[in-house]
Amino acid sequence: MSSLERALARAVSVEDLRRMARRRLPRLVFEFIDGGAEDELTLADNRAAFERRRLVPRVLVDVSAPDPSAAILGRASALPFVIAPMGSCTLAWPGADLALARAAAAHGIPFALSTMATIGIEQLAEAVPGRLWFQLYVLRNPDANARLVARAEAAGYEALVVTVDLPAGGKRERDLRNGIAIPLRLSGRHLIEGATHPKWALGMLRGGMPEFVNVRGLLGDEGAGLTIAARVGQNLDAAFGFDDVARLRERWPRKLVVKGVLHAGDAARIASLGVDAVWVSNHGGRQLDGAVAAADALPRVAAAVQGRAEVLVDSGVRRGIDALKARALGASAVGLGRAVLYGAAAGGEAGVRRALEILAGELTLAMKLAGTPRFESVDASILDSSRG
Ligand SMILES: Cc1cc2nc3c(=O)[nH]c(=O)nc-3n(C[C@H](O)[C@H](O)[C@H](O)COP(=O)(O)O)c2cc1C
Repeated sequence: MSSLERALARAVSVEDLRRMARRRLPRLVFEFIDGGAEDELTLADNRAAFERRRLVPRVLVDVSAPDPSAAILGRASALPFVIAPMGSCTLAWPGADLALARAAAAHGIPFALSTMATIGIEQLAEAVPGRLWFQLYVLRNPDANARLVARAEAAGYEALVVTVDLPAGGKRERDLRNGIAIPLRLSGRHLIEGATHPKWALGMLRGGMPEFVNVRGLLGDEGAGLTIAARVGQNLDAAFGFDDVARLRERWPRKLVVKGVLHAGDAARIASLGVDAVWVSNHGGRQLDGAVAAADALPRVAAAVQGRAEVLVDSGVRRGIDALKARALGASAVGLGRAVLYGAAAGGEAGVRRALEILAGELTLAMKLAGTPRFESVDASILDSSRG
């Protein structure tokens, strides 16, 4: 066993992996991943909304063989998890997109590739035989969107996830203060940070400067020095609306997911357009600071969707029991963002596998202790209603 493998094996929680990530990464990279917008109210609320909820366990139930599997987009998944799309994740570990996708496939769960990934759509599909979804940020250039969608279709992606909560980049103040920008430029300060985190710096040097290969030449080169969020936001179509989702529904023949929904009214309208899943998310508190916590929005969204589409949720999942709570609040599965990215930062693919192993172990233990042997049968009756 290498020293990294030993260190990963010693990590018993996602928080342990987060601490490892914090040690390994230069501060500006760790804060880019860990941070949220403005005062980080929504970021904190995402956790609080899961933590506040309590379950009322059932007893005298046969929990000798708990089954955490779930149907996700109509197909069986070994665990009720999806790896959420994360752009620029290669900053955490060289080739993190691939590491995340491979670990997802090994655990039998879907992986969503971000528009802002640093691996090609086709290259990933060739390298990973698992369930792949492509996340689309709708660019202002319609031809570019059409090309991205056509490439994902040709490469056999199972689902298109259109993210709708980024009409502009959130105001992420840590990134502004740290001067993390694209194109990535190394200032003297960044070089010092690299020198004090040699393992990370060496990895980056070997991997070469990360590039958003799927949108090469499409983000413009004006406004250099913007934060990653601002740069991305500047190039997205802020006029994208319900009619556009309907058109996308006509054009895309496979599963369609709309990500970044919090309002029940929006969820009802989106469900009526024939999408396959509504993904409740506030982008991990990285966009509107002051937006409702995802777990708080979830029951109202699920009620509005009325079973016409699946309901996924992310933003704040850090424990296996969070998936159980999310199920009780109306979701069919949860998206994992930072929880797995901390793992990638701590140890690449092995770190992501460790994160998934920890979360899966916690979930099956919680199912046993709560007396809920089948994840899919969990409903609101397990929630302590006095705690919301
Ligand atoms: C570093 C990072 C990059 C992200 N990039 C994207 C992206 O490219 N597309 C997208 O739809 N969401 C993106 N997200 C949001 C995630 O998909 C997900 O909604 C969020 O991480 C969930 O919150 P959590 O990390 O607190 O669980 C990103 C999140 C992080 C942390």
